[in-house]
Amino acid sequence: QQAVRIAPSILSADFSRLGEEIRALEAAGADYIHVDVMDGHFVPNITIGPMVVKAIRPHTSLVMDVHLMISPADPYLDAFADAGADILTVHPEAGPHLHRSIQRIKGLGKKAGVSLNPATPAKMLDYVLEDIDLVLVMSVNPGFGGQSFIDSQLRKIEAIRKAIDKTGKVIDLQVDGGIDQVTAVAAISAGADVLVAGTATFKGGPGQYAANIAGLRG
Ligand code: DX5
Ligand code: ZN
Repeated sequence: QQAVRIAPSILSADFSRLGEEIRALEAAGADYIHVDVMDGHFVPNITIGPMVVKAIRPHTSLVMDVHLMISPADPYLDAFADAGADILTVHPEAGPHLHRSIQRIKGLGKKAGVSLNPATPAKMLDYVLEDIDLVLVMSVNPGFGGQSFIDSQLRKIEAIRKAIDKTGKVIDLQVDGGIDQVTAVAAISAGADVLVAGTATFKGGPGQYAANIAGLRG
């Protein structure tokens, strides 16, 4: 388990001034910028695409952590890589060839993540864990910010922590959805080392971002 890093989800940002928001997050001590890409098909919401990733890229030197909730994802991997993503995370259910998606992401010189929905078992990772840089456990059903943390995911985080440690490799264990000061502690003690937080980062406005982020580190 590495040091805890906080990845604010810009889903809760003011989209009319995204550049400013991202600069404020960096100044407030964020570690990654988490970008939720939704297609209205894999998940019941539509957000942003590669053009927006490209537009915000010059506003930060932080790791751009792009969470692809789109199906299929493969046709868009190159576009998100070109737009400046550093990490590309895909869901196994989004396409028939998870291993190929991972190969493509690595071939583009980017870090590869795999995200598991709440009902998706940890064993989906059995034959890909050694090849990836990040596991993302969804602690809500993907699609929207502001939902409640699903407690059953703590068991999954614990199991994946053990599996990661067995590999001896550096693999981020990220948790996404319903993270607040209380669930952050639970997720970290279950083995998470990157926390995605939308609502909890942005509450109270820009003047609070630094305190909000610091409050999640446990
Ligand atoms: C949900 C997204 C999350 C979301 C988290 O589909 O993947 O990143 O923005 O929002 P909060 O922190 O509000 O649960
Ligand atoms: Zn996300």
